[in-house]
Amino acid sequence: MTKRVAIIGAGPCGLAQLRAFQSAESKGATVPEQVCYEKQEDWGGLWRYTWRTGTDEAGDPCHGSMYRYLWSNGPKEGLEFADYTFDEHFGKPIASYPPRAVLYDYIEGRVRKAGIRDKIRFNHVVRDVRFDSGSGQFSVVARDKVSDSESEERFDHVVVATGHFSSPNVPYYDGFESFNGRILHAHDFRDAREFIGMDILILGTSYSAEDIGSQCWKYGCKSVTVAHRTAPMGFDWPDNWKEVPKLDRVRGKTAHFIDGTSRDVDAIILCTGYLHHFPFLPDDLRLRTANRLATADLYKGVVWNSNPKLFYLGMQDQWYTFNMFDAQAWYVRDVIMGRIELPSRDIMDQDVRDRVAAEDALEDDYACIAYQGDYVRELVDETDYPEFDVDAADKAFFQWKKHKKQSIMEFRDNGYVSPMTGTMAPPHHTAWVDAMDDSLESYLQTE
Ligand SMILES: Cc1cc2nc3c(=O)[nH]c(=O)nc-3n(C[C@H](O)[C@H](O)[C@H](O)COP(=O)(O)OP(=O)(O)OC[C@H]3O[C@@H](n4cnc5c(N)ncnc54)[C@H](O)[C@@H]3O)c2cc1C
Ligand SMILES: NC(=O)c1ccc[n+]([C@@H]2O[C@H](COP(=O)([O-])OP(=O)(O)OC[C@H]3O[C@@H](n4cnc5c(N)ncnc54)[C@H](OP(=O)(O)O)[C@@H]3O)[C@@H](O)[C@H]2O)c1
Repeated sequence: MTKRVAIIGAGPCGLAQLRAFQSAESKGATVPEQVCYEKQEDWGGLWRYTWRTGTDEAGDPCHGSMYRYLWSNGPKEGLEFADYTFDEHFGKPIASYPPRAVLYDYIEGRVRKAGIRDKIRFNHVVRDVRFDSGSGQFSVVARDKVSDSESEERFDHVVVATGHFSSPNVPYYDGFESFNGRILHAHDFRDAREFIGMDILILGTSYSAEDIGSQCWKYGCKSVTVAHRTAPMGFDWPDNWKEVPKLDRVRGKTAHFIDGTSRDVDAIILCTGYLHHFPFLPDDLRLRTANRLATADLYKGVVWNSNPKLFYLGMQDQWYTFNMFDAQAWYVRDVIMGRIELPSRDIMDQDVRDRVAAEDALEDDYACIAYQGDYVRELVDETDYPEFDVDAADKAFFQWKKHKKQSIMEFRDNGYVSPMTGTMAPPHHTAWVDAMDDSLESYLQTE
């Protein structure tokens, strides 16, 4: 009997899993049957922009967290697929910080070429997964959102590829209920032009805070105030951008901070991160982890230790993304196909403890980047995923950090060397701060 594998989600991780199996098949291997459930009507995960917020057309939570005018926040050289380069896809070198539509096109180009679309059941939301120890199989219940009907099928393996930047972490601060303006989470932010002329308050100091604040600044908000819970971002911000201590309370339109200062604001944007949220999984299969580089309970960052027939992709915090997802997907494929034998439970548990301890000992972001680069290399070395120059990708990230420190509103004007082709990215034709059109057509113009 052919094994059956359920893949939940057709974002970059789920697509990497399908591509991994297709790659093995193209080299003559017999691969398991794959069914990929995707709750949206098309592939691409977060990279497929949606104007919707709240619930989707079928009443389920809207997955999208991406917004208009989003450009990559890290260099494309850090995420390039080793089996499908930017040069191959675009037919020419392109600049280093592509907008969302350009990266979506790139993701899509590889899977179109691989011809794996027929393995995806679009508009199918997975509602329940159970493991039956008698048969050694999982039952997967999914609802077809178009026909509004449920199906249940059995699988030998389940790969969870549902992402972890979609269920917002929404804290409460005293007085929120009386605020005379809009309070929204980054998950629901769609268009910076909504905040033109406004004084905005942002909570959080990570990538969403930095990027949503920068977008609002670029498109003409009046001022940006960022309150930090732990530490300020510390970049050299424009004059109408202030970093202040933690929010204490809100009264009317006035935000009061713990140092006794206050500021009137028109909107509050909660850039307070996301939850690892798997409502379709029972307790014994559900990952509970912080957003960190070494996740809890996953051998090699992907195998569910207490039931190694279950896998998770992309659950780490992410410097590396697309090529790390590939490295993971190729590894998972080889475990499923019996090409990689898993060690004992004790060794798998020790592996997690070692990764956590090694991450805890890291001293700065540079060390974190190298740590995740080493992890990618470790997985790549165990499969036939094309070897690539991980040091060169690390280097692109190191330069990116330096360029952000130099000028936070200009870092996207720099270019880096591809770890796959050695090509140096050309400068973009327009400085990021002046580039209001984020379309693929505009970005790819060479004149
Ligand atoms: C605002 C924002 C900006 C980002 N920008 C960058 C960037 O510039 N560069 C970068 O490299 N990374 C960026 N990321 C990181 C991003 O997480 C990854 O690039 C990538 O999208 C992760 O892929 P994924 O497949 O794990 O998850 P996702 O892209 O979230 O895809 C998960 C898929 O699973 C589906 N799904 C979820 N639940 C179910 C269910 N129950 N049943 C069926 N299907 C389901 C969803 O519909 C979705 O299609 C960004 C993230 C956010 C939130
Ligand atoms: N252009 C882009 O490409 C782009 C744009 C946006 C996001 N992203 C991606 O999206 C992902 C998620 O980033 P993220 O910034 O949303 O999440 P994140 O990296 O998990 O950061 C969460 C932030 O929320 C803060 N926070 C949490 N609870 C809080 C509370 N109760 N009060 C105040 N602050 C609180 C944290 O502060 P502490 O430090 O105090 O814990 C932290 O600064 C990343 O992978 C990022 O790369 C990319």
